[in-house]
Amino acid sequence: MSLKTVEWKDNSVIMIDQTKLPNILEYVTYTDYNQVAEAIRTLVVRGAPAIGVSGAFGLALASLQSDATEKNDLISYMENAKKILFETRPTAVNLAWGLDKIMEVANEASSVEEIKKNVVAHAKKMAEEDIQINMTMGKNGSQLFNDNDTIMTHCNAGALATVGYGTALGVIRATKDSGKNIKVIATETRPIQQGSRLTAFELKHDGIDVSLIPDTAVGYSMANGLVDKIIVGADRILRTGHVYNKIGTYQVATMANQHEIPFYVAAPLSTFDMKSNPEDVIIEQRKGSEVTGIGDKKTAPDGINVINPAFDMTPPELIAGIITEKGVAKAPFEESIKKLFQAN
Ligand code: MRU
Repeated sequence: MSLKTVEWKDNSVIMIDQTKLPNILEYVTYTDYNQVAEAIRTLVVRGAPAIGVSGAFGLALASLQSDATEKNDLISYMENAKKILFETRPTAVNLAWGLDKIMEVANEASSVEEIKKNVVAHAKKMAEEDIQINMTMGKNGSQLFNDNDTIMTHCNAGALATVGYGTALGVIRATKDSGKNIKVIATETRPIQQGSRLTAFELKHDGIDVSLIPDTAVGYSMANGLVDKIIVGADRILRTGHVYNKIGTYQVATMANQHEIPFYVAAPLSTFDMKSNPEDVIIEQRKGSEVTGIGDKKTAPDGINVINPAFDMTPPELIAGIITEKGVAKAPFEESIKKLFQAN
């Protein structure tokens, strides 16, 4: 069984502290939604589906923390908590999705007691469904990969980026489980190394053959025939098929296009934003210290200017297919994505 990233137990939220990986596998326990918000902000938990479920759990905690005796007072307390949780990270759409779902459940309930009971139950259901969805996505995607493929991935779209099993790494797991022999090349993913700290860690943990490369070796690997296919996750996908994912994804996709290597994206329907246009999407800008050092070690001169976007956008023309729990969307994406939602 792959790692379980976040779960609800005895009215508290338990998650792996991903900032400590790969050196220490430590679980943290939160009973206050403000702690969950801080955990999302500081990347204790990260990855679009994982922060979607963490947001839902955070809001469920908020409902338990409130001493409101009237439904309206509890709803306003939760609306305030929702704002605090929502403002932690702007790009992954799953966070808003998780928070909106919980508020919907709260609004439908008729009493304070019912709200508390229903939102906790619903948040737990979202966590369970996340794993099921990833497993279905894995099966759908595994058909696109062949025996003896070497698959490149960027960032971490694994069990650690979801509740369990993973999106892109879920497809890799399902491909291996279907009896195909596969190898993985994981990029390091600077600046904060989700590839080396998390992807390499969890694939090694599960006994999947993985080689780590520096981000700068993406072109070399493709030009030298080391890569058959690529798969990444996503933080937000627009109705047009524009994919927002970890910074560097666009470079990988462009290089894949240059070498005619199929570039796939795996994401659940909760990662789709059917309303926004590219100009509406906020790309999170993170602190410069992530770039001027590695861990505690300084690797750049003091006072240097830094540009540190956390995500970039890959246009649909570079994408061979978007794997979801409802099937695989292919170009023209606007049509095929619409069909996936109609099948929902
Ligand atoms: O900044 P992070 O680590 O939260 O970014 C994560 C990614 O970009 C993942 O590739 C994405 O969320 C897909 S996760 C299934």
